[in-house]
Amino acid sequence: MAGIVLIGLQWGDEGKGKISAYLSRGAGLAVRFNGGANAGHTVTIGDKELRLHLLPAGVVSCRRAAIGPGVYLDLPTLVEEINRVQENIGDIELTISPRAHVVLKLHKELDRYLEEIRGGKIGTTMRGIGPAAMYKYGRIGVRFGDMLEDENLEDRLIKIAKYIELKNKNINFHDEYVELRLIIEKVRKYVGNVTRLIKNELSQGRTVIFEGAQGTMLDLDYGTYPYVTSSTTLASAAAHGSGVSLKDINEIVGVLKAYTTRVGEGPLPTEISGELADEIRARGKEYGATTGRPRRIGWLDLFQLRYAAELNGVDKLIITRLDTISGIERLKVCIGYKIDGTKINEYPETVAKLRRVSPIYIELNGWQTLNREEIDRILLNGYEELPRNAKQYIELIEEILGIPIKWISLGPRIEDVIEK
Ligand code: IMO
Ligand code: MG
Repeated sequence: MAGIVLIGLQWGDEGKGKISAYLSRGAGLAVRFNGGANAGHTVTIGDKELRLHLLPAGVVSCRRAAIGPGVYLDLPTLVEEINRVQENIGDIELTISPRAHVVLKLHKELDRYLEEIRGGKIGTTMRGIGPAAMYKYGRIGVRFGDMLEDENLEDRLIKIAKYIELKNKNINFHDEYVELRLIIEKVRKYVGNVTRLIKNELSQGRTVIFEGAQGTMLDLDYGTYPYVTSSTTLASAAAHGSGVSLKDINEIVGVLKAYTTRVGEGPLPTEISGELADEIRARGKEYGATTGRPRRIGWLDLFQLRYAAELNGVDKLIITRLDTISGIERLKVCIGYKIDGTKINEYPETVAKLRRVSPIYIELNGWQTLNREEIDRILLNGYEELPRNAKQYIELIEEILGIPIKWISLGPRIEDVIEK
């Protein structure tokens, strides 16, 4: 039996969805335990591209999914997504925790409002995640289970909404109530005890993939606050957000992209601009899967990754997008930060400090462009077939982080992965 946690080690969009679909082949269950519809996980099956926000992407491989208490549920998005997955890949089995909090329209309104008044935008995805978390922690939220059982839902919605109504009178709670009543009848059948389900899977010797959303640097406490999301995005959240024990987790797998991206505001020490950034963005289709915003591009940052790997306790690494940076003559890799000319040992704990760092780079030779033909040959023959400089890039990461890279992703399709 194995509980495997999959965590993004950068600022999100590391390719977790595709990797989860890869690792979930043969697994018993794929689980989402944090975030909400702010996540955007793209999986490519044949020539079809599926974009998932709430269902774990692993469901496309193992057909069984769970959504734990730690997730913020956007019910219209969820229903649309279930339909889309069923049309494209067939029936799935889904269990949703009654403890998961529901995102309401008012949360999305409040998301917009807070961005206006905050004084310095975060650049949220506008999916209502921050406000839904405020309501949850303020103990005025609505949980999925409440919705299924509460006869006075409309009244409750109006009462709960009083808080924001003062500032924004555009929300029609009756309409939302009517819409929710219809949706509730569609999703009622999915409610169930996610913890028990996972425990049963594990005790029967099956693998459970805990699929993290967002990335370590977007963690509410350990990321670049306030330019973060409103969830815990670390491996520890897999236990808390799905109701299993830390002892149920056997392995922590960290996903990193061969370069860095960030969408939204906040510091990105190794950020690059100009022609090369545009080229990488175009080649890697680096546009937000949820919002369509162009992602900011940066060099690989091993100082940041060392921090992330330690926070999560990563056992094994998966690197994605090695193909995207092929054909670039010289590659920079950040191996440390300096502030006022002095090397620092610990990752800065405040944004003010992070804004003052200058990265220390080493330069490596790149490798030739990997076209489809080349990639297919590597997929067939394995790691040794990779260009020498690409292997050097991988081995440098392993050496500096002290963690083995177990898988290398070379393309968008689920099977575009080699094992090392
Ligand atoms: P996946 O799972 C990348 C970013 C937003 C914004 C900040 C806060 O696809 O890796 P929020 O809407 O969560 O309040 O926005 O977090 N963000 C992500 N960036 N990938 C994601 O998810 C993200 N989810 C949120 O862009 O900067
Ligand atoms: Mg994404």
